[in-house]
Amino acid sequence: MDAEREAQGQVILTDNIERKADGRLFFAGHSVPDLAEQYGTPLYLMDEQRLRANCRMYTRTFRECFGGRALPLYAGKAASFRQIYRIADEEGMGVDAVSPGEIHTALSVGFPAEKIFFHGDGKTDADIRFALDHQVGYFIVDNPDELEQLALEAASRGLRQKVLLRVTPGIDPHTYKAINTGTVDVKFGVPLETGQAFAFVRRALELPGLEVRGLHCHVGSEVFDESVFEDTIDVMTAFMAEVQQKLGFVTDMLNVGGGYGVRYLETDRSIDIPARIRQVAGHLKERTESLGLPLPYFMMEPGRSIVADAGMTVYTVSSVKRIPGYKYYVVIDGGMSDNPRYPLYQAPYTVLHADREAPFYAVYDLAGRCCESGDIIQPMVRLPADTKRGDHIAVCTTGAYNYSMASNYNRLGRPPVVMLTPEGSYVAVRRETLDDLIALDC
Ligand code: LLP
Repeated sequence: MDAEREAQGQVILTDNIERKADGRLFFAGHSVPDLAEQYGTPLYLMDEQRLRANCRMYTRTFRECFGGRALPLYAGKAASFRQIYRIADEEGMGVDAVSPGEIHTALSVGFPAEKIFFHGDGKTDADIRFALDHQVGYFIVDNPDELEQLALEAASRGLRQKVLLRVTPGIDPHTYKAINTGTVDVKFGVPLETGQAFAFVRRALELPGLEVRGLHCHVGSEVFDESVFEDTIDVMTAFMAEVQQKLGFVTDMLNVGGGYGVRYLETDRSIDIPARIRQVAGHLKERTESLGLPLPYFMMEPGRSIVADAGMTVYTVSSVKRIPGYKYYVVIDGGMSDNPRYPLYQAPYTVLHADREAPFYAVYDLAGRCCESGDIIQPMVRLPADTKRGDHIAVCTTGAYNYSMASNYNRLGRPPVVMLTPEGSYVAVRRETLDDLIALDC
C-alpha cells in the first residue's frame, strides 16, 4: 500500500479494501456501491491483480528455491470457473482437480492436460476413464481400490499412467475438524502409521499400467502453525527413505498439499508465505541430504491463499429487524446459498457497510434469505445504527470456497462473478436466471 493511497482513505483488512473519505467502500480500486448498482446483488467480486499476484508469490518463490524442479498447483476446489483456469495457466501454475467437472472446466479453456493432477477419494470407474480419455498428466491415487481399477484400465489401453500415491502422515494441523485431512483416521489417503502406506507403494510398483512418480500428502486447510509443513516433511522423507531402502523406489516427486491460512479478521495473524516456503525448501534439502535421498521435484496445492483475499461478496439489505432486549438482524438478499461457511464451520468474516460510515453503530446478526434459522452469514457484526433496506453490505475475503460451495437452496440463482482490473470490470460467470433454474427439469 503506498502512502499516497493510504492518505486518501482508510485501508481495511487487506490493501485492496479501502474506505474513502466520503464513506464509500472501494475494492481493487472500484467503488463497491457503483458495482452493486451496475451488476445487481448478490454479487461476487474478484480482484484479478490480487489473484495474479498470489499466483506469482508461489511461482517466483518456487523458482527461487528449486529452480525448474517445482510446480505450484492451484487447488480448483477453492473457486472453479473458466476464467480462473485461464489465469492460472497464464501465471504458470498447474492444477489440482477433484472431479471430471473441474477437469472439463480447465480443459475447456485449453489448460494443458499434462499439468492437471487428478485428486479425490471417490473416483468412479467413469471418472477414471474420463481422465484417461483426456490424458490428464497425473492421477493422485487415494486408495488401493482406485489403484487396482486405474492400473487395469490403463493397462488395457496399453498406457503407463503417471501417478502419485496419497499417504496420510498422521500430522495434526491444528485446524477445524471438518477440514483436517492429515491425521491417521481421516477418509483421505493411506496411513503410514498402520503400515498400509508401505503396502500401497509396494503394490503400486508391481502393477502394470502405472508409472509411480512419487508421493502426495495434505494435512489440512487454514494452517497457521509454522511447524506443520516441516513436521510433514520429516515424516514424508523418513517414509521416502524406507521405500527407497526396502523397495528400491526413488521418490521423484513430492507433493505436500495445500493449506496456508489467510486473514479473515483484523485480529488474525498474517503469514509470510514466501518466507515459509523458503523455510520448507531448506528443511527438505537438509532432510533429503542427511538421508541420502535425491531432492524430489516439489509441489504444493494452494487454494485459499490464491483466491480468498481476491474476493468480496456484495449484498443489498432487505430488512432490518430489531427485537428489543434480544437481538438485531440485518437481512440481506443472499445467504447460505452463496456462502455456507458460517453454518458449516462457524467461519469468521469481516462485514462492512459499503455505502457509508455513521456516527453510531449497533451490533447485528447478518442473516440470509434462506428458510432456516441457521442461515447466518456472520453473527455479531458492527454496522451503522441507521442501517436500512436498500443499503449495500460487503463481506470480505470470500474468494475461496464461496462460489465453489454455493447451491440453489430455495431455488435461489447463484450470483455472478465479476472480475475487477485496473482498467474496469467484466463478467467471468453470469448470474443464474430463473430459466437456468428449471433448465434441467424434465
Ligand atoms: N489439496 C488437497 C488435497 C485438499 O484437500 C485441499 C483442500 C487443498 C489442496 C487446498 O487447500 P487450501 O490451500 O485451500 O487450504 N471447504 C472448506 C475447505 C476445505 C478444504 C478441502 N481441501 C472451507 O470452506 O474452509
